[in-house]
Amino acid sequence: MDFYETIRRRRSIRAYKSDHVPTNALANIVEAARLAPSACNRQPWKLVAVTNAEMRKKLCAVCKQEFLGEAPVILLALGAAENSWKRACDDHHIVEIDLGIMMEHVVLAAAAEGLGTCWVCAYDVPAVNAAAGVSAPWSVLAMSPLGYASGEPTPLDRKPISEMFELWD
Ligand SMILES: Cc1cc2nc3c(=O)[nH]c(=O)nc-3n(C[C@H](O)[C@H](O)[C@H](O)COP(=O)(O)O)c2cc1C
Repeated sequence: MDFYETIRRRRSIRAYKSDHVPTNALANIVEAARLAPSACNRQPWKLVAVTNAEMRKKLCAVCKQEFLGEAPVILLALGAAENSWKRACDDHHIVEIDLGIMMEHVVLAAAAEGLGTCWVCAYDVPAVNAAAGVSAPWSVLAMSPLGYASGEPTPLDRKPISEMFELWD
């Protein structure tokens, strides 16, 4: 699929078929994640694909986002702030930007593979870390279901270009 067409077609999918995710599609998605840029190339991340039914049920229960449990795979984006580049002016670790880029590579690669995803960040991070058995320095900073969509999401608007873009010539 053309890059811009992939961007146009990607949507947050909150209803899934139980169909298996092909191994080669998952491999392509992982490779897209691996190639993501990060500040000073620190790559302060890990990507985990959870297919274990018991673990998926557990994560779904902790997150309280029902649709997570419908997909055959739950992706976890793990970040380690202490491994990320730190901005000198305020000692700010850039881990969330790095993870965001990596995760969006995942989301767009999945769309190119005809698979659905949905960014999930609205959860109790310590509770999810505990459920997933993830401990410091790692933390689950974002999650997503991965699978085939069952149905089309309702269309959503975006701000017009006039509201979100300025050309400072
Ligand atoms: C950083 C981030 C966190 C999000 N967290 C959640 C979430 O916890 N649960 C959820 O259902 N959607 C979540 N979303 C999905 C957004 O609601 C969705 O991307 C937005 O409404 C636009 O819809 P679209 O993705 O279909 O274009 C999140 C999106 C982003 C980028």
